Amino acid sequence: MKTAILGAAWLIMCSNTAFAANGVRAPFGALSDGTKIEAVTLTNGAGMSARIMTLGATLQSLAVPDKAGHKDDVVLGYDTAQEYLTRPNYFGASVGRYANRIAKGKFSLDGKGYTLVTNDGPNSLHGGPKGFDKRLWKIDAVTSGPDAKAVFSYVSADGEEGFPGDLKVTATYSLNEQNELKLEYKATTSKPTVLNLTNHSYFNLSGNDARDVMGNMVTLHAAKFTPVDATLIPTGERRAVAGSPFDFRTPHRVGDRIRDARDQQIRYGRGYDHNFIVDGAAGSLRPAAVVNDPVSGRTMEMSVSAPGIQFYTGNFMDGTFFGKAQHSYRQGDAICLEPGVFPDAPNHADFPTARLNLGQAYVNTMVYKFSAK
Ligand code: BGC
Repeated sequence: MKTAILGAAWLIMCSNTAFAANGVRAPFGALSDGTKIEAVTLTNGAGMSARIMTLGATLQSLAVPDKAGHKDDVVLGYDTAQEYLTRPNYFGASVGRYANRIAKGKFSLDGKGYTLVTNDGPNSLHGGPKGFDKRLWKIDAVTSGPDAKAVFSYVSADGEEGFPGDLKVTATYSLNEQNELKLEYKATTSKPTVLNLTNHSYFNLSGNDARDVMGNMVTLHAAKFTPVDATLIPTGERRAVAGSPFDFRTPHRVGDRIRDARDQQIRYGRGYDHNFIVDGAAGSLRPAAVVNDPVSGRTMEMSVSAPGIQFYTGNFMDGTFFGKAQHSYRQGDAICLEPGVFPDAPNHADFPTARLNLGQAYVNTMVYKFSAK
């Protein structure tokens, strides 16, 4: 009873206080088969709001003020949930069980071989044809307060999409008054498995996809990256970025070197589609990337706990499909920064491990901090 009264008082306080972030749960339409979708909107007093829907625990919109205080959406996506299934592109999605590629859809664990469905040429991509982005997640909790928070969960059965172990996953989104959106993936398994959870937001800081990202300034705190073969599987090499189009240790315009076809890696990726090895020790949050749009003045600073970050510039978007507000999306319209273990880690013994054991707690944390000037 006492807790209920305190809770009610807190709610009243939050709704009356301009600067307390709050979380609100509401319906977000339905899929074509009638399945109802819900969304949580986290709003702070500093002008930001994030909407996350239950389909794929997907960041569906992210409103951020520009230097003049105008709030615009800085992530690509669709207006309705069904479109995320009809024209899947992992926009804003929680990706699993294995974000990025596993070569030929095969790996082995403790001497046993596993075969996944290949859905990207010869390889398995983003957890297979029905990965976590296409699953319905539950809303476990929505809280308001100094940090507005929404906890989503999903239980993946042993064998789902070919992966071993019953897996319990949570995705916790929180927004504070410092314009930091924090996202934490956690998981436990019933038997040894491999896991790489990430968020696949496509950022376009111009707001409402007003311009492409070629003029964005990007910094990547990474002295090395993992080169790939023609099917975008890492060769195993860890290559120094120095002297190449992959050197973003100081800020560079995305467009400056993206067409430098003298570099075979640029040809393979059709631009940037590579895993960068984030400087510093994985396991604790450290700066990984900064993106600045000089026109709107918006800056996003990203810190990650993961060993790597996939930098992808929407190279496979070809203008044949359209997103929010019937706007067609083309190559170079967005920047994806996907923190995780390295692509194809289950087949590379010397990469940071993707293995999760029984009794072990998986955590992957990422913080996106926004500012404008
Ligand atoms: C991959 C791209 C892929 C995209 C799909 C990225 O994580 O690196 O190669 O096309 O996801 O949305």
